[in-house]
Amino acid sequence: MTPTTANETMLIVTSLAYILSAMLFIFGLKMLSSPETARRGNLVSATGMFIAVIFTLIRAGLDFKWIAVGVAIGAAVGVLAALKVKMTGMPEMVALFNGGGGLASMLVGWSEFHAHPDQTVVFILVSVFLAVLIGGMTFTGSVVAWGKLSGNIPSRPILFSGQQIINGGLFVITLGVGVLFCGSFYPSISAVYVPTAVILSLVIGIVTVIPIGGADMPVVISLLNSYSGLAACAAGFAIGNNILIVAGGLVGASGLILTNIMCKAMNRSLTNVLFSGFGSHEAAGGAGGAEGTAQSTSPQDAYYVLEAASSVVFVPGYGMAVAQAQHVVRELADLIEANGAEVSFAIHPVAGRMPGHMNVLLAEANVPYDKLVEMDDINQTIDTVDVCIVIGANDVVNPAAREDEGSPIYGMPIIDADKARNVFVLKRSMASGFAGIPNPLFYRSNTRMIFGDAKATIEALVEEFKS
Ligand code: TAP
Repeated sequence: MTPTTANETMLIVTSLAYILSAMLFIFGLKMLSSPETARRGNLVSATGMFIAVIFTLIRAGLDFKWIAVGVAIGAAVGVLAALKVKMTGMPEMVALFNGGGGLASMLVGWSEFHAHPDQTVVFILVSVFLAVLIGGMTFTGSVVAWGKLSGNIPSRPILFSGQQIINGGLFVITLGVGVLFCGSFYPSISAVYVPTAVILSLVIGIVTVIPIGGADMPVVISLLNSYSGLAACAAGFAIGNNILIVAGGLVGASGLILTNIMCKAMNRSLTNVLFSGFGSHEAAGGAGGAEGTAQSTSPQDAYYVLEAASSVVFVPGYGMAVAQAQHVVRELADLIEANGAEVSFAIHPVAGRMPGHMNVLLAEANVPYDKLVEMDDINQTIDTVDVCIVIGANDVVNPAAREDEGSPIYGMPIIDADKARNVFVLKRSMASGFAGIPNPLFYRSNTRMIFGDAKATIEALVEEFKS
């Protein structure tokens, strides 16, 4: 086609820019799958988004004054949030950003309806409705998830009788409104449909997330992340913007994949996460072999075992994040290695409270990537390891998941720390972890508990090595 007008030329240039953006998104996503390339992947995707935004704005010919004000405010909020957020606060920040994405899609859908109130094309109406519905529920759902994680809302599952029936009823009413709107029934009241859908979507977001326990929020956030992508995709169809459709589709698909990976690693179905009210009561199940007397030792005595070891595996968990022990752990690993032992870090996919939590903390402490070993790989050789140091991990090393059919976590893949020759478990007490169940590992004959804050214990071990 030969471009005949400036408008057509602009359309072609914008389409090419969108193709480039889409390629950058895909390459960026691929790079996110390895810790070594993840930072660059983030930059590559951000460049793709920058190109998409610039060309969309140029083509739309909007009033740049107000756009510039919006960009300045948005950039200031983004930079401040990224600089101020603590690593342990990342899931909260992601929840808020997801919510922002959902709100934006909801507003795009709503404004599209206002711009073309006489629209009768069913496909466009369905897109507008989905953008509003999914965007709205993503917004309030994400705000509730943020509230639960930050402690501004009780983190326990909020359950009441008839809850499922009320939620089901809300969905049925919403479906009804959707059918009326998309079928352009009763045109005299057509102005009411979208605002009604907005209200319903905001309520649905709240009622579907409050029954879920705070510790399951990372899974919920990943799912809401996927929803925000789907809402953006629907908004893209509603306004006929191809790059929004592509970006939304990629976010929707990758969010779903991540949700699935997390559920598999916890050996729980998504239905169980969303509807079981996990954490609302003490977990059922027996002691699963967690009986007897746990034996404890001191960092000073543990040092002699470590000093003689020729292979040491660290298993970090949520407690390492709480204690912020990653830097001293790296220091201890270096000292043990300098002493002649082989050192590695065994990473469980759901250790901590967010995907890649341990990878992020260890990367912050500059632990080389080649020292990180995945669960399946370490389990093949863990019985040959001299010392396994469990740092604030609990559920992800609980042998009940392998041995006790009555355990709520039975079937969850774990790091077989109990099979190492010697195990040191660093935690403050005998308290249970996220799943709320006892851990037989603490009572095994090859296990020694080292009670105390993980950072203080590791610092004491570092002192021993240095002196
Ligand atoms: P948990 O099973 O939650 O255990 C963490 C342990 O850390 C606790 O038993 C606690 O014992 C200890 N701890 C806390 N603060 C400490 C400190 N300052 N110093 C030393 N120890 C400290 O952790 P995990 O093994 O990493 O397992 C993660 C759990 O979260 C799994 O059940 C997983 O399914 C769930 N989950 C994970 C995710 C993702 S994406 N990672 C998402 C949702 C749910 P004390 O209180 O005795 O010190």
